[in-house]
Amino acid sequence: MSQAVLHVDSVSKSYGALKALNEVSLSVARGEFVALLGPNGAGKSTLFQLLTGLFVPDTGRIEIDTHDLRRQGSQALAALGVVFQQSTLDLDLTVRANLRFHARLHGMGRAARERIDAELERIGLVEQANSPVRALSGGNRRKVEVARALLHQPALLLMDEPTVGLDPASRRALLEYVHELRAGRGLGVLWATHLVDEVEDADRVIVLHKGRRLAAATPDALCGQAGTANLAGAFLTLTGETPRTQEGVVS
Ligand SMILES: Nc1ncnc2c1ncn2[C@@H]1O[C@H](COP(=O)(O)OP(=O)(O)O)[C@@H](O)[C@H]1O
Ligand SMILES: [Mg+2]
Repeated sequence: MSQAVLHVDSVSKSYGALKALNEVSLSVARGEFVALLGPNGAGKSTLFQLLTGLFVPDTGRIEIDTHDLRRQGSQALAALGVVFQQSTLDLDLTVRANLRFHARLHGMGRAARERIDAELERIGLVEQANSPVRALSGGNRRKVEVARALLHQPALLLMDEPTVGLDPASRRALLEYVHELRAGRGLGVLWATHLVDEVEDADRVIVLHKGRRLAAATPDALCGQAGTANLAGAFLTLTGETPRTQEGVVS
């Protein structure tokens, strides 16, 4: 498992009597796009809060790029890029200032300017570098968040429902962009979503429901296991919940 950039081993987390995560295990390999598919309340954001060290799991173990999150926290977190469910950009600061602040937090020093310019070039926002984030479209704001998450060149990118609030074209563009990134950089990606159409091109899909991991397989294998023709059917069979797509509920 030397290629794994994320190892989650039997992690549980309760809020009072509610078991939000129940002995969840998963891994992400270098260059692998893993989709974490689950309806609202499945425990996706709770898992992300554990992976980013905001909460400590009740039981279990997390390793990021071979570093134990509990014992080697700063090395583990240095290998992690994250885009949270809620945007954490400062809308009144310029695009460049948002990126520079993150670079300082990661102690990037002199390398920062060059890396910021390279990321802005990659996302096609060089001309907006000195505009406040507020002036950008939702899709471009998300791209800035991805660029920021990648500035310190992490091994693992976490994205928590990153397409919420975007129009269908921007959603598709963001998904394609992240697929390209992981191929180009050998980046491991864990992409959380409740939308079945966002997981079709994933290398593996992990289905999470009520805090439990119900399945972990390629999209094709998942349909095979569920005996269904498509992922929406597999999702319904596994979870008993109505599958949702960008366009709404699958009928
Ligand atoms: N801070 C919290 N305190 C109490 N309950 C919480 C808290 N955060 C999440 N929950 C509950 O834990 C469950 C999992 O939530 P969450 O991890 O946000 O799921 P998802 O991101 O998949 O929608 C839900 O039932 C939610 O209401
Ligand atoms: Mg969530």
